Amino acid sequence: MQALELLLQRNSFNQLMEPAPSTEQLDIILDAAVCVPDHGALKPWRFIVFQDQALCDLGEIFAEAAELQKAAPDLVEKAKLMPLRAPLVIAIIADIKESTKIPRQEQLLTAGCCVHAMQMAAVAQGFDGIWRSGALAYDAHVKQQFKLKAEDEIVGFLYLGTAKSAVPQKKRDKGSAFTQIW
Ligand SMILES: Cc1cc2nc3c(=O)[nH]c(=O)nc-3n(C[C@H](O)[C@H](O)[C@H](O)COP(=O)(O)O)c2cc1C
Repeated sequence: MQALELLLQRNSFNQLMEPAPSTEQLDIILDAAVCVPDHGALKPWRFIVFQDQALCDLGEIFAEAAELQKAAPDLVEKAKLMPLRAPLVIAIIADIKESTKIPRQEQLLTAGCCVHAMQMAAVAQGFDGIWRSGALAYDAHVKQQFKLKAEDEIVGFLYLGTAKSAVPQKKRDKGSAFTQIW
């Protein structure tokens, strides 16, 4: 796939099934993540990969978080099943580094770029996926289970797999509609 085609025809897709990227393909996805712009070379990122039984473990963490939030039983069950919507889920964490020069915001942006780069690297290899957050990305119990520092953030859960059907192409805006030529 050509680079511009990849960028201009990028679409998320949430109907995902096996096969997931292989170990080698996942390595490429992870390598793409760490090629993103990174002011001060702080490497403010950390990734947690969930596959197979680990997807169920993540579901348990989500369910515990929902229970702690006193969610209704049906929502607890829903939270438990969330990670099973794809054969591979990657949690992307902004691992915020102490710096007098590089603000936290820039480190969060870098971690966000990691998610986009990973999604693109997956699509380039024939997979599809969707970047999700949801309330559980901001949840104290989930953060504790992932061993985040107080200043860290979960910037997303990237769900990846093979599209169950043809991915609909969205009609996109023209970038110039949001642009002022000074
Ligand atoms: C930080 C962030 C969090 C997101 N969280 C969710 C989410 O929890 N659930 C969801 O359906 N889409 C979420 N999205 C949006 C999807 O990733 C996707 O961009 C959207 O469905 C539009 O599709 P497109 O990427 O093909 O334009 C999120 C996007 C971003 C950037």
